[in-house]
Amino acid sequence: MAVAEISRMVQQQPLTRNRHLLRWVEKIAELTRPAAIHWVDGSQAEYDRLCAEMVERGSLIRLNPQLWPGCYYARSSPDDVARVEDRTFVCSLSRDGAGPTNNWEEPYAMRRKLRERFAGSMRGRTLYVLPFSMGPLHSPMARIGVQLTDSPYVVINMRIMTRIGREVFQEIDKDVRRVVACLHSVGAPLAPGERDAPWPCNPEKYIVHFPETREIWSYGSGYGGNALLGKKSLGLRIASNIARDEGWMAEHMLIVGVEDPRGERTYVAAAFPSACGKTNFAMMIPPKAFPGWKIWTVGDDIAWMWPGANGQLRAINPEHGFFGVAPGTSLATNPNAMASLSRNTIFTNTALTPEGGVWWEGMSETPPAECLDWQGRPWTPEIARQTGARASHPNARFTAPAAQCPAIDPHWEDPEGVPISAIVFGGRRSHTIPLVFQGFNWSAGVYVGATMGSETTAAAAGAVGRVRRDPMAMLPFCGYHMGDYFRHWIKMQRSLSVTPKIFHVNWFRKDEQGKFLWPGFGENMRVLRWIVDRVHGRSLARETPIGWMPGYEDIDWHGLEFPRERFEALQSVDRAAWHAEVISHEELLIELHDHLPSEIIFERELLICRL
Ligand code: OXD
Ligand code: MN
Repeated sequence: MAVAEISRMVQQQPLTRNRHLLRWVEKIAELTRPAAIHWVDGSQAEYDRLCAEMVERGSLIRLNPQLWPGCYYARSSPDDVARVEDRTFVCSLSRDGAGPTNNWEEPYAMRRKLRERFAGSMRGRTLYVLPFSMGPLHSPMARIGVQLTDSPYVVINMRIMTRIGREVFQEIDKDVRRVVACLHSVGAPLAPGERDAPWPCNPEKYIVHFPETREIWSYGSGYGGNALLGKKSLGLRIASNIARDEGWMAEHMLIVGVEDPRGERTYVAAAFPSACGKTNFAMMIPPKAFPGWKIWTVGDDIAWMWPGANGQLRAINPEHGFFGVAPGTSLATNPNAMASLSRNTIFTNTALTPEGGVWWEGMSETPPAECLDWQGRPWTPEIARQTGARASHPNARFTAPAAQCPAIDPHWEDPEGVPISAIVFGGRRSHTIPLVFQGFNWSAGVYVGATMGSETTAAAAGAVGRVRRDPMAMLPFCGYHMGDYFRHWIKMQRSLSVTPKIFHVNWFRKDEQGKFLWPGFGENMRVLRWIVDRVHGRSLARETPIGWMPGYEDIDWHGLEFPRERFEALQSVDRAAWHAEVISHEELLIELHDHLPSEIIFERELLICRL
């Protein structure tokens, strides 16, 4: 197709003068054959128009504006509800580059396969040219992507999750930075006159990353991290490659500022696997008995961290919104999230109430008397009692603007980021792992992160509740060999003049009766306070085989009656269980052995000796 022909097809002038971008759009249009091309300007008017069109087509429902101003509701196809890790590929030039924890196929063969799938895949649809910035546009850390997509749902979600539109095109036109090319199709071409499905997608899915050329090709899914390519694909898988090459870190971490009663703010980054409470932790409200303490939210999912001018680790949240798990979120568990999602939010796969509102399990103690479930079927508490049917999907999500969070940190869009003093790792573990401990030093801490384990959740397709090793919560997101990733972590310390302290937490330990030992939520502030006080050399700890641990007296118990024995149970280090734990680390480490830095091997030996 000639440029002239392309511009006849579009209803609007291209919003860029960048030759490479124009040529790429032309090539992709030639391949995918869309009916129209739309250059996304990012305006409110454009957003409103896209939403109205989707409402008209039955892909979106406008919620009751009195109850949920500016909010919309979508239901996905039942076979497109989560990230598909078994269909996610890192196609580096060599198999070894991707490592054993990523799916890999030879990149030329994969490109051939993808070209076949994308050929004509946008017929009858509009191709949206969606420029986005990960990170505040003028931050030296910001990275720009352009996503070509045939999904208006993706465009409206990306407008909340990233910074999009004209300003980003202007940045691209300056040609100062390399753009990450992201191609996405739901893989559901429309024949002339064919009625569109409310949630078009394809049973065959491919989420493919080409790290050397910094490209992403995603086919067949319209859901979450499969389709909003700024998040996991650029923000973590491609960014981790860029970060390794440039000497910084792209991590699956929340960032919070912990303000103490003197007004001093200490920033902490924390990595928990998907659906383990990162959003709750990022928006925590300290207990009433902690006057003067406040948690400020910088981000809830991704941290890009680099050594600042003074050698202190600094971090930005490259995202602009929250893509949070709805079930379990309530005024009791996370009032800041509830305020964030109270307006201008897109809900996906929650239940729909007769008043035109949304509901999900855990949102309120009393469920609505009736509603439509996430697939549009009638649901009542009685039906749930009889059949166990859920009203919302366990991975139902809200897409909410971060700026609407009442606790958003005043520095969250600071181009220079915030200084990070501590890194916290955590997993969902019913047994063995104590509430909190501190790694002895950086390399011991890296070992702690590298061997993190967690019971699987509904955020990814597959079995739920199995312990899997999830190093730094990055198993599904590291875009290169995990052994090299550990080496990169170890090496990072050399460019830091202040080494952040590393901790591990587990809110999910259970007693013999299967009951949680720790209340969690706001009470996690007690643990966070100990962590922050450790950073400043203000709190005590005991040496144990696995690291430094607080004694009962070292935790601030104001306002909570928590028996000493219960704390001892929570913090107990059972040597036999830990032995089994360390043996089970081997499963992953053996897989990675030829790329492991020697520090990991030595740390493991030391841990075994101490045990
Ligand atoms: C997410 C995830 O959506 O980790 O953040 O799955
Ligand atoms: Mn995540």
